[in-house]
Amino acid sequence: MFRPGYHLHPPKGWMNDPNGFIFFKGEYHIFYQHYPYEPRWSHMHWGHFKSKDLVSWKSLPIALSPDIDTGEHGCFSGSAITYEDNLALLYTGHHEPKDGAVYQNQKLAISQDGITFIKYNNNPVIAKPPADSTYHFRDPKVWKEEDTYYMVLGNQSKNHQGRVLLYQSKNLKEWQYLGVLATSKKLGYMWECPDFFKLGDRYVLTFSPMGLLSQEDRFANLYQTGYLIGDYNSHSHQFYFGEFEELDFGHDFYALQTMEDPKGRRIAFGWLDMWEEDFVESKEGWAGMLSLPRELYINEKGRLCQRPVAELINLRGEIVIDKDIPWGEKYLYKTKKHLLEIEMQTTLSQGFGFKISGQTHTLTFSYHPTQKKLIWTRNDEKRVAYYPLKPSIRLQLYIDCSSVELFVDEGAITFSSRFYEATDLTFECFSMKKIKIYELKATIH
Ligand code: FRU
Repeated sequence: MFRPGYHLHPPKGWMNDPNGFIFFKGEYHIFYQHYPYEPRWSHMHWGHFKSKDLVSWKSLPIALSPDIDTGEHGCFSGSAITYEDNLALLYTGHHEPKDGAVYQNQKLAISQDGITFIKYNNNPVIAKPPADSTYHFRDPKVWKEEDTYYMVLGNQSKNHQGRVLLYQSKNLKEWQYLGVLATSKKLGYMWECPDFFKLGDRYVLTFSPMGLLSQEDRFANLYQTGYLIGDYNSHSHQFYFGEFEELDFGHDFYALQTMEDPKGRRIAFGWLDMWEEDFVESKEGWAGMLSLPRELYINEKGRLCQRPVAELINLRGEIVIDKDIPWGEKYLYKTKKHLLEIEMQTTLSQGFGFKISGQTHTLTFSYHPTQKKLIWTRNDEKRVAYYPLKPSIRLQLYIDCSSVELFVDEGAITFSSRFYEATDLTFECFSMKKIKIYELKATIH
């Protein structure tokens, strides 16, 4: 009932963070935090999908399983990189010894065919965090510049500040600590899932900080995902950055991971969920899903934007509605279908909006021109983003069984939320001048 048609989700069991996103030998691979036996978080494995086109995905055998007998209780989040024609995974070993303190270290696994992975026998490749750190030391994201590999890691300092650490290596096996890439007194007690990359002529650090206090309209979820944009000196390894901004304003978005594909695009997946939510789908034997793949870019206002990758037009099936709407009129559409893309062009005269409802749940979206607020409300849980006035913008809304993703103005603002509605849907919009509705194909096999 709630199983998505075109969003990645586990065949059975649990899914959280996207891991190891890479283009390897002609195909996109995405791994994910996975517990295959039950729809709940437990000893983490790495699940695996691949695709030629970012649209149709094939589920592959589990790539990494924890060696519980030897004290490895979880293969936590990490990333992938090609190494001498092989596919290498860098992941965090999570250890909970019976008679000792929890610890995390960084490990390597290698595959020749991109499917079967062998853990490196001299693991860990980074045994422990720097001395001024607590045990929170995880989520390696690796990239290569010239002949050197670099790694960022999520970490917590001894004084309980979230931060990102930087390492380098020539061979993925021996790593040298370069220092703290970024930290802030204002941004929580732990930073998870960092990613660091050049985009245009700026550098971007994305991460998921824990412990931000909600402030009026900001930081409304349990944990956040956001970014710092700045300049980076690749010799001194100093990163000079601006203010922290949230990346998605919906109820469910976390642990973004990016990669650069052969076309030079920076593409990302997030986990389309939030810790401690209900995961209503778990009665169906699975839980958790990923966002749509998004192309990242920085717009003229300096915002990190995320638009659906161009390939997603191949999800489109029949066009069911294609209409100009007379000024001031509402438009109402009722459907049994739950795999839909709805494209709208707004008018800004007195604000605009839409509502999706079923028998038990509603999701409303509206723009308030005087306050410059975009408001996204699921049942009674409100989320807000600020966006300046423009005469007309495009909205792209993707509905799948149990999720809704909205891309506002080419992804300058996005809202991603789980939305569990098993009955027919009613869609209603106002102050739009055009609407186009496509049925989408199911593409996850
Ligand atoms: C983020 C996270 C990571 C960790 C993983 C464990 O959602 O907590 O920091 O590696 O999940 O599943």
